[in-house]
Amino acid sequence: MALYSEKVMDHFRNPRNVGVLEDANGIGEVGNAKCGDIMKMYLKIENGIVQDVKFETFGCGSAIASSSMATEMIKGKPVSEVKELTNKAVAEALDGLPDYKMHCSVLAEEAIKLALEDYEKRTGEKI
Ligand code: FES
Repeated sequence: MALYSEKVMDHFRNPRNVGVLEDANGIGEVGNAKCGDIMKMYLKIENGIVQDVKFETFGCGSAIASSSMATEMIKGKPVSEVKELTNKAVAEALDGLPDYKMHCSVLAEEAIKLALEDYEKRTGEKI
């Protein structure tokens, strides 16, 4: 059996929503001290909805695939739903990750949570 699912390979080779969102109003950046990988999420939130999202990931293929999938899962969704997104859900949407690569999907969950916190700080709004 292949180590990585077709979906992981697809999102790694053709990542969705890559780049910087100039008008983001919530930005979250996280790193993993062990592997040194870094992920940054940019959210544009309006009327309680994630209208747009982009990411920059300096990291392994699983981290890139996880960020790409996570952006697709939260785009157009209400923030109340977005804050419940777990790394497990991202990994499941990718048809699984090897156990020792699960931490890569944790970066996506954490970066999104930090971006939501950043939005709360900037706007004084409670999500
Ligand atoms: Fe560090 Fe994947 S090995 S995020």
